Amino acid sequence: MNVLDMTGRVALVTGAGQGVGRQVALHIAGHGGAVVVNDFHLDRAEAVAAEITEAGGQAIGLRCDVTDLDEVTEMVARGSAELGPVDVLVNNAGNAGPADDPLAHNPPFWETGPKDWEPWIATNFFGVLNSCRAALPGMVERGYGRIVSVISDAGRTGEPHLAVYGGAKAGAAGFSRGLAKSVGRHGITVNCVSLSTINTPGVASVIADPQLARAMLRSYVIRRFGEPSDAANAVLFLASDAAAWVTGQTYPVNGGYAITP
Ligand SMILES: NC(=O)c1ccc[n+]([C@@H]2O[C@H](COP(=O)([O-])OP(=O)(O)OC[C@H]3O[C@@H](n4cnc5c(N)ncnc54)[C@H](O)[C@@H]3O)[C@@H](O)[C@H]2O)c1
Repeated sequence: MNVLDMTGRVALVTGAGQGVGRQVALHIAGHGGAVVVNDFHLDRAEAVAAEITEAGGQAIGLRCDVTDLDEVTEMVARGSAELGPVDVLVNNAGNAGPADDPLAHNPPFWETGPKDWEPWIATNFFGVLNSCRAALPGMVERGYGRIVSVISDAGRTGEPHLAVYGGAKAGAAGFSRGLAKSVGRHGITVNCVSLSTINTPGVASVIADPQLARAMLRSYVIRRFGEPSDAANAVLFLASDAAAWVTGQTYPVNGGYAITP
């Protein structure tokens, strides 16, 4: 028996054109699921969908900006029409912005304003709300659903250069706990994975700096940065029926970066 089998399931993975999301899409497809590969960049989404279909799986690539509820609603409708109703939603699209690079000379928080905060909150918080809002009516109607959101240890333990981003990620985790309580009776689970540094294009500039990378790695009990598959393994578990009795939780996948109860 393969407890991670996704055969017959349709998953929507946001921001899946590269990095963690791409690997989540490949993992789900590799376990038999059909995948709506979303990205803000259509070429990236289509390339990952093609990778899946060329390997014999089922996928389509759809462009949409998760910060726009109308676009997300239309994407869910198109994905459902082409592959079937969405059973699994992976809220992966995220935006740490230039502040993800600790070397970047960003102004301190007290010199910034709502216009600076908006991109982080829009993608990392509203993006999650929008996608859940669009996918949930179908899940409730069918009495089945898996929602997994990718958050960050910046939202659990705090990072000085990622305060607003971390706040948005912590908001997504808090939202997920409340949502888990309201949709559990409909057969829907809602969980998060919380990542520390994962080797993706999004953080390539940080990892590429040997001095900075060495300094950062001192905080990791397992002395390496994560790979997209480290994150995708946990997402796949939470998206599968193996995690049927797990809801409202945030799983750290972080090489021991922050060991908290
Ligand atoms: N890589 C890390 O070290 C790390 C650490 C902690 C948390 N995370 C989180 O993991 C997730 C994936 O990170 P990654 O490093 O793979 O990112 P990445 O930047 O490499 O890729 C993210 C993808 O999401 C897409 N995207 C961004 N905003 C979007 C939007 N509004 N609508 C649709 N698509 C959008 C981008 O076009 C890109 O292809 C994010 O939520 C990120 O915050 C990453």
